[in-house]
Amino acid sequence: MKLIRALILCGLAIVITVPVAQAQSAGKKVTYADIQPILKENCMACHRPGEIAPMSLLTYEEVRPWARSVRKEVRRKSMPPWHADPNYSEFRNDISLSKEQIQLIIDWVDGGAQRGNPADIPPPPEFVEGWQLTNILGREPDVILHMQEEYAVPGTGEDLNLSFEIPTDFKRDYWVIASEVRGNPRVVHHNTATVRGPEGDRDRTGRLSSAVPGKLYDLFGPEAAKLIKAGSTIVFGMHYHPYGKVEKDRSKIGLWFARDAFEYRMHSSVVADPKLRIPPGQRAYLSAGEYTFDEDSEITAMKPHMHYRGNDMEYKVVFPDGREQILLYVPEYDFNWQTNYELKNPVFVPAGSKMIVTAHFDNSPTNPWNPDPEVEVRWGSDSRDEMMEGWFDFRRVLKEKVDPKDLVLKPGEFDHIKPPVGSDEE
Ligand code: HEC
Repeated sequence: MKLIRALILCGLAIVITVPVAQAQSAGKKVTYADIQPILKENCMACHRPGEIAPMSLLTYEEVRPWARSVRKEVRRKSMPPWHADPNYSEFRNDISLSKEQIQLIIDWVDGGAQRGNPADIPPPPEFVEGWQLTNILGREPDVILHMQEEYAVPGTGEDLNLSFEIPTDFKRDYWVIASEVRGNPRVVHHNTATVRGPEGDRDRTGRLSSAVPGKLYDLFGPEAAKLIKAGSTIVFGMHYHPYGKVEKDRSKIGLWFARDAFEYRMHSSVVADPKLRIPPGQRAYLSAGEYTFDEDSEITAMKPHMHYRGNDMEYKVVFPDGREQILLYVPEYDFNWQTNYELKNPVFVPAGSKMIVTAHFDNSPTNPWNPDPEVEVRWGSDSRDEMMEGWFDFRRVLKEKVDPKDLVLKPGEFDHIKPPVGSDEE
């Protein structure tokens, strides 16, 4: 299938303002041609075959039967999933719709969800099935690593949290500008891939990639990259959700390496409150934590993580001179969506700055997601327990510049890494 470079500006990457006023001001009926660009920018990355959404919305024929439902979801802002308060930062992956865009969709549906003149409808975007990042970067991953064994997820029972080790077999160090994990979407609720160094060490940059609902990949480059040292192991932290029948999963990770010189080294860290104890019935339990930057850094992204009782989360930087800046506020956290909020302009924080993360949990019976308001809730990876984790990514200027000559891949460099029998890459 052909690559569409326009997708670099599409998918979950960058939002383009659509000239919505045209159709209305001309007094003509809103047709599919007017709303297709909105769906293309804000919906199709998920609503296409093989992705997490339950139905494909690539063509008029596919969208038409869902028109009422689309109207309902965009009107109450549950689609597209985006939960950041717009008052604080701008995000490069903001997929939320403007008031005008929402109104245009409502007008289209109320006017009979008409196709209009087929000649006016832009061709549906062509996606390369498989890696989201192939559509964005325009190239396949440099190397793909699979779980060593297939895992059969039982059809019933509790959710499973398991970890799987994948030795990289890397003979030298590599710098990663982007990574994506994929598995069987029917049973994989999420997967957090981390790197364990050759000495068994897990450094701060350890989190490599994660796939959680609403977050599809990690893109650091081209100006920044994460280091994977020779002999490292990648650890998949899988959260499986039974699907009603036994389903097999062999998750994999695709890695895209730096090809050109880059300026920054990427790091990830987290503010957590593992000592939290939420009393039964409590409506707004406060939990907070902080992280101090010991070197000059630039914050690039934030990903709040809580479970069913998570209500809201705020990320605030306190600079050494006492100045404060809220970077992200998620007023109505929704466990179903674990968005990574990528700052449009990374925020510089000098050494000594603090990242303060504050969250509230709702353990009252009025929280419709609350599995049990009668219990005291503690830290745990089971969804019925809680987590208060404010993940964030930051980058630092590379101390020793990487020589672009060292980034060139030799033909057959990964020939010793064989895709497993029966996999798509075999
Ligand atoms: C990040 C991925 C993602 C994006 C972007 C996204 N959706 Fe969804 N959508 C989903 C998933 C997953 C579901 C099913 C789970 C749910 O209903 O919450 C869903 C459900 C829906 C439903 C309800 C389907 C039903 O069963 O009733 C509608 C309608 C919908 N989306 C429309 C849209 C529209 C319109 C947009 C863009 C304006 C959009 N979505 C953007 C992932 C996405």
